[in-house]
Amino acid sequence: MRKLVVGNWKMNGVTSDLAEIAAIGDMAINYSRVESALCLPATLISRACDITKSIPIGGQDCHLQQSGAHTGCVSAAMLADAGASLTIVGHSERRAAQHEQDGDILAKAEAAHNAGLKVIICVGETLAERDAGNALHVVLGQVAGSLPQDISGDWLSVAYEPVWAIGTGRIPEMADVKEMHSAIRSALVDRYGAIGNGVRILYGGSMNGDNAAELLAIENVDGGLIGGASLSRAKFEPILAAAEAFGE
Ligand code: PGA
Repeated sequence: MRKLVVGNWKMNGVTSDLAEIAAIGDMAINYSRVESALCLPATLISRACDITKSIPIGGQDCHLQQSGAHTGCVSAAMLADAGASLTIVGHSERRAAQHEQDGDILAKAEAAHNAGLKVIICVGETLAERDAGNALHVVLGQVAGSLPQDISGDWLSVAYEPVWAIGTGRIPEMADVKEMHSAIRSALVDRYGAIGNGVRILYGGSMNGDNAAELLAIENVDGGLIGGASLSRAKFEPILAAAEAFGE
């Protein structure tokens, strides 16, 4: 499996950042043994798709309905219409601030798939959950509750993002990443059979150019979901370069 490296711009990015997005696209095509994408604010998707064809553009969330009376929400069909080819769902920032539950995330993932988007479903434990020894239990519960029944067709990735590692500069011990990714892989294979071996499991949380090679070398770490270090070409490129070394 080629590594998948996805930037998550979160609530960052306005018109003046389109040039940086284009620069990231120009950079990404040099790494042909990596799959990459940029998940942008909905307001930028259409213009980003106009300005670069060199990197797939995605959303960061979608509504579980495709249209209707949901003021302020963006549907998967709208993301696709704007040019997106993927979306993140279930990011911990949304699970926490928007009180999203596993069932909501499952419905969003199915809505996104039905709109023709690839989907990254995020899971991850809080620091309190890890300190209490519950990290595996929590994450495997999220995997069981937020992944759809039918994942055939290579549209789904899972991102393991320990909440306490996001935006903090802290990352887990490599052994803990290995243990978690291996447990997620086993859960995927138990549930989906051989198809579960083909689902990418990304690591996210303070991945950067300094730690990417080590993280990406871990068994079952099939790529990364990158926040802060995806906001500029200069910071994002070393992560793609690290991933390229694993590509066939
Ligand atoms: P970070 O964010 O790389 O800034 O820690 C990762 C994420 O939240 O997806």
